[in-house]
Amino acid sequence: MKNEKRELIDKDGLRVDGRKKDELRPIKIMVGVLSNADGSAYIEQGKNKIIAAVYGPREVHPRHLALPDRAILRCRYHMAPFSVEERKSPAPSRRELELSKVIREALEPTVFLEQYPRTAIDLFIEVLQADGGTRCAGITIGSLALADAGIPMRDLVVACAAGKVDGQIVLDLNDIEDKEGEADVPVAMMPNLNLITLLQMDGLLTPEEFEEALNLSIEGCRRIYALQKKALKEKYISIREEVET
Ligand code: CDP
Repeated sequence: MKNEKRELIDKDGLRVDGRKKDELRPIKIMVGVLSNADGSAYIEQGKNKIIAAVYGPREVHPRHLALPDRAILRCRYHMAPFSVEERKSPAPSRRELELSKVIREALEPTVFLEQYPRTAIDLFIEVLQADGGTRCAGITIGSLALADAGIPMRDLVVACAAGKVDGQIVLDLNDIEDKEGEADVPVAMMPNLNLITLLQMDGLLTPEEFEEALNLSIEGCRRIYALQKKALKEKYISIREEVET
């Protein structure tokens, strides 16, 4: 029958990509991937492939945007036209504008902006391939690129979503689950400080389901945080090895 809703969780409790409900997609993170940026990072999270580049602190243009007592953090989230199945128009979309804003707001609380008055820190998030959850993956590598640029921060920021699919709360939704599921709760946090810097919800959840999704997102964030720290250390271990040989 046409338009029949597909089953997103099978009788064995497995999802469309074979994951269990509380399982993250496979994640690969690299730090310092662009030599022309002050800081950079790359993530593969399932089929997502995203790169982040940081430039600054540097002079602000146009100058009137500069603030006398702190730096400004600017963020541009951009999806490549070839990053999704149906070609995305290269023109900036409202969605990209919104995601640029939420990513900036999720990262701002961690940066000691007051240490760099009258400057700008520019973060570019380029989505090369998208498969759901790109704002979260963008935040995860955005904070790594800031750290790689040597910008003083209170903690890394890490993000992950949980949501409701076929009536069940699941971790780290992919594109199909995001589009055909019932709800999505993206969360960003500074895990060491136990502070949430982004909390959104798309869809409908009961208060109990919301709490379950929030707790699962936080659990996902903590697991990705361990991978973030490992990726940062790996870059600096390899630099030390190069210097020593
Ligand atoms: O990526 P994220 O979940 O943070 O944001 P979204 O607006 O909920 O988008 C979910 C997914 O829809 C994206 O990750 C893409 O895979 C897909 N998408 C698309 O296919 N075409 C677009 N023009 C925008 C998004």
